[in-house]
Parts: sequence; C-alpha cells; structure tokens
Amino acid sequence: MREGQRIEELSLKFYRYRKDMSEIQIFPFIDSRIENYCEENVSKEPKALEELDRKTHLCFVRPNMISGNWQGTFLRMISKMINPKTILEIGTFTGYATICLADGLGEGGLVHTIEKDGEFEEFLNSNFQEKGYGDKIRVHIGKALDIIPKIEGNFDIVFIDADKANYPEYYNLCIERLNKGGLIIADNILWYGKVGLAPMPKDKETIAINNFNKLITQDDRVENVIIPIRDGLMMGRKL
Ligand SMILES: C[S@@+](CC[C@H](N)C(=O)[O-])C[C@H]1O[C@@H](n2cnc3c(N)ncnc32)[C@H](O)[C@@H]1O
Repeated sequence: MREGQRIEELSLKFYRYRKDMSEIQIFPFIDSRIENYCEENVSKEPKALEELDRKTHLCFVRPNMISGNWQGTFLRMISKMINPKTILEIGTFTGYATICLADGLGEGGLVHTIEKDGEFEEFLNSNFQEKGYGDKIRVHIGKALDIIPKIEGNFDIVFIDADKANYPEYYNLCIERLNKGGLIIADNILWYGKVGLAPMPKDKETIAINNFNKLITQDDRVENVIIPIRDGLMMGRKL
C-alpha cells in the first residue's frame, strides 16, 4: 500500500469517528473492490499530478479532499472535449483538478480558481508556475460568494467543489454566466450517501446538496446527469 493511501485511510477513519452519530456518512462509499478496480483501469497519472498527490498526502490536512486520478482524468477528458476558453473552479485546495481542467483549455484560455484559505496561495502559484501553468491559471483568494461577482465574463466550464452549504447559491450565480453548450459540474452530490436517505439527515450540507440536485434537475435551461464517480458528480449542460 502506498504511503499516501495509508495516510488517506487513517485520515478517513479519524473523520468517520469525529462525526456525530446523526451525521453518519457511508465510508467507504463505494465497495473498495470496485473502487480499486476503477482506480486500476484508468489512464496513468501524469508525473506532475502524481507528485502533487504525494505532496498533498504528506504535507496537507485532509488530503482526501483531493480529486485524484480517477476523477481528475474524467475532468481532463471533458475539458479536452470542449476546449474551453474560460473555466471557473470553486475550491482549489492543492490545485489537482485545476491542472486537469487547464489541460483542455483552448488557445489563450484561462482557469479562474477560488480558494478561501490564503495559506494555499504561495504553494499554488509556485506549483502552477513550476509545472508550466502560470499563464493558464489565476488563483483568487477569498470566499467564492464574494469573488465570483468580481470575475468578469462568462464560463465554458464551472466546477463546484467547496462549501456544500452554498451549492444552490453557486448554481444560481453561475448558471446565468454559463455559455450555451457549457458544462456545470459539481462534486460530492451524493454526499457519501446522505442525500436520498429516508428520512434525510437535517444538517445544512445535506439539505443544500439535495436542493442543488433538485434545482438543476428542474431547470429547463440545462440537461443533467449524475455520474457516480466516488460520491457523485452532477454534470449539467446549458442548452
Ligand atoms: C474539496 S476541496 C477542493 C478540491 C480540489 N478541487 C481538488 O480537486 O483537489 C475544497 C476546498 O475549498 C475551500 N473552500 C471552502 N469553502 C470555500 C469558500 N466559501 N470559497 C472558496 N473556497 C472554499 C477549502 O479551503 C478547500 O481547500
């Protein structure tokens, strides 16, 4: 077992025990035999991302937040399919998905990525610069609800991956600014099995994610589908 995997498992165990009983989530969400099989049958992780994944597991708190190769490959392929000019990412963490999304940018394209925690800024900018993404990725430090209105223009891809309690607000802020044919993708929309349970837990994250799922499904400006990678990606395409 890789050291990174071992640390991730310990961190997940700690997270599980720390949770109040009323907030129990399903860990691991997917049968680990299936998850391992999916992880084994995906394109090899690029070296720069392998290094970033390792560094994240060694040096950062809650490394399990990273997108990783399975989800990252999906995001990269989607981005390459539509060659976006502008991408918005909400929740940068160590920048794994940011790089995957940037790999599909069209000529002169830009990823705007928002991270509320200023402690990541130096690491992110130097890593993007070092890996050759300096002119393709702009890091914005602050709360996404404050930053999004300050970023000009429309988006071809929006990736929502932070602050679950505000998913519906992010949707309402971004859907108007998504170009026709553009994609809005949101992570964790099955919230490790908490959404869809009857009775559904009443914590604000579960309620907000469930509201987000209903909002996008009932919006006739988009077509949408859940992709059950890890604990679920929602993908919507603007019609
Ligand atoms: C799940 S991680 C993002 C993972 C990343 N997209 C990746 O693929 O590796 C969520 C990140 O969002 C940040 N965050 C939380 N609330 C936020 C907010 N209101 N605005 C911007 N970033 C936020 C957290 O500090 C954390 O680094």
